[in-house]
Amino acid sequence: MKTASCRVHRQQAISEIDPRIYGSFIEHMGRAVYTGIYEPEHGTADDQGFREDVLQAISDLNVPIVRYPGGNFVSGYDWKDGIGPKEQRPTRLDYAWFSIETNQFGINEFADWAKKAGTSGMIAVNLGTGTPQEAGYLLEYCNIAQGTTWSDLRREHGYEQPHNFKTWCLGNEMDGPWQTCAMSAEDYGKKARETAKILKWVDPSIELVACGSSSRDMPTFPEWDRIVLEACYDEVDYISLHRYYEYEGSQTDFLASFYDLNEFITTVKATADYVRAVKRSDKVMMLSLDEWNVWYRQNMDCKRWEWAPSIAEDEYTLLDALVVGGLLTTIVNNADRVKMACLAQLVNALAPIHTAPNGAVLKHTTYYPFQQVSNFARGVAYRSQLTCEQVTTKNLGSVPALTALTTFDDSTGELAHFVLNTHQDDSVDYQLNLESFGRLQLIDHQVLAGDDPFAGNTFEHPDNICPTQKPIDVQPGEQFAFELPAASWTLLRFKSEA
Ligand code: AHR
Repeated sequence: MKTASCRVHRQQAISEIDPRIYGSFIEHMGRAVYTGIYEPEHGTADDQGFREDVLQAISDLNVPIVRYPGGNFVSGYDWKDGIGPKEQRPTRLDYAWFSIETNQFGINEFADWAKKAGTSGMIAVNLGTGTPQEAGYLLEYCNIAQGTTWSDLRREHGYEQPHNFKTWCLGNEMDGPWQTCAMSAEDYGKKARETAKILKWVDPSIELVACGSSSRDMPTFPEWDRIVLEACYDEVDYISLHRYYEYEGSQTDFLASFYDLNEFITTVKATADYVRAVKRSDKVMMLSLDEWNVWYRQNMDCKRWEWAPSIAEDEYTLLDALVVGGLLTTIVNNADRVKMACLAQLVNALAPIHTAPNGAVLKHTTYYPFQQVSNFARGVAYRSQLTCEQVTTKNLGSVPALTALTTFDDSTGELAHFVLNTHQDDSVDYQLNLESFGRLQLIDHQVLAGDDPFAGNTFEHPDNICPTQKPIDVQPGEQFAFELPAASWTLLRFKSEA
């Protein structure tokens, strides 16, 4: 058995957590929309065709914001195709996923669906084939009350009240050669700035996200981010980051993904702060990690021009769930700069929720760490000072074997502590010092672990991998000891006795 300890001090707050760091993403991709969240023929569909079994699984996840409608999809999408009477909407070729888009689900359906799912929208505008003017018209359609062509058209379509979407993305991954109408950093920076001006003129209350590099692996990272921010620093509120991980043969490296994500965030912060210094600006640029997850890109084959193809339907393992837990610790531990983050995605396409067309809903392994953190890691994030062994990785050098996050919510008096033990063969004798929070009573102890890191959930065995509830057998106090199983993710919740 290994030993490790963690001390959390009330004087070491990182930041109040912006709940939007527990966001997610619905793109018109594969079966995310059609036969995912929207399937009028399904037995649980409501009067608008939204699957209520899926809505339930999403509301249990407690996702405060959902990015829509893409992703790569948005760069060839005309939002006007998705409004008005459904029988008059055009069927189009979607250049991003080589699919058929019937436009039966558009911005108004999304607004209704988001309300039912208990979430809000982060709307991406098309800066690929789209123009700044069309982006302005979309915002006018969504957020202006009445008295203009586009706002009155929304009212004609049955939406008297504006949708009032507050968060808008200026395109998607515009540095990627795969993107419809990709462009240089200089061209994007200028287009983003000019679009931002129009959008903020239309509705000054909104916040804007500029596209950062689409990955840390892009050859143009972080130069792209510097050039873009130099062009639009004053007009935007966030720079975006996207990052996906996959198991490539080394469990040690894969489990250390949390460390890689921290490096990525650190570099983007430094780049943004460099631009701030160049501009002599008082404004601190915040980060929107609006795509992150484990994603295996093998499952991408489909017939060309198929409707709702089964692409990117990854089946996640215990190992993947542990990695997702580790990534969540990094996100929360950067809550001072990362104000939004979206688990990409939510349903069917690289997602924690899987649906059978006309059938049941399945929660993949990755559903659980996200659900726990989103529900319980609220309030203020605190530094978790870990003392633990290092492990040696192939690609990241020497990395701490444990990662943890701690939050305290004044409104409930609850402290939540999550810890990932990446030692694959060793449990850990774990000493947790919380004395600066006063006497605490343990109220919840859950562990995600198992003998087979590659086991997952299936429709036949849906609960094969999910957290196990442990007995609450420790006395109230200020310092605690737990045994962390090998390769495990642990949730500990305490109630303050103060
Ligand atoms: O989330 C899947 C895809 O990954 C998104 O469409 C794109 O933005 C990214 O490359």
